Amino acid sequence: QKVFIINGPNLNLLGKRQPEIYGYDTLDDVAANCAALGADLGLTIELKQSNFEGGIIEMIHEAREQAAGIIINPGAYTHTSVAILDALNAFEGPVFEVHISNVHKRESFRHHSYVSLRADGVMAGFGVQGYELALRRMAVVLA
Ligand code: DQA
Repeated sequence: QKVFIINGPNLNLLGKRQPEIYGYDTLDDVAANCAALGADLGLTIELKQSNFEGGIIEMIHEAREQAAGIIINPGAYTHTSVAILDALNAFEGPVFEVHISNVHKRESFRHHSYVSLRADGVMAGFGVQGYELALRRMAVVLA
């Protein structure tokens, strides 16, 4: 089965962007680690990234046809986007939300997530390892 790992704005800069918050691993490192773990778990991983809200929405629409589950880090759109929430509500499989940083320990505007109204589970503050932890859970719920 296929799992989409969808990443929102500024996550293309992972590893270079505020490493004291987000660490030094790049999105390519995340893709490689998740592909390897996915192979062990019997899942095919497609990791995607867009800096555009509409781009993320179209990835979620594609997932309707192609993916059994979605892992999503919507970046700052987490806190603003009803449209991404609506797109996720049109997807029937499991959805896990990932934040590299612990958003609850940060500015209050990061404490609310529209995506959490849909997500079946949330990882926050586990660094980039959160993607792999979410993937392990995905394998359990898709089994
Ligand atoms: C983030 C947290 C968001 O508040 C922020 O806007 C991001 C990254 C995280 O992974 O910790 O871009 O989603």
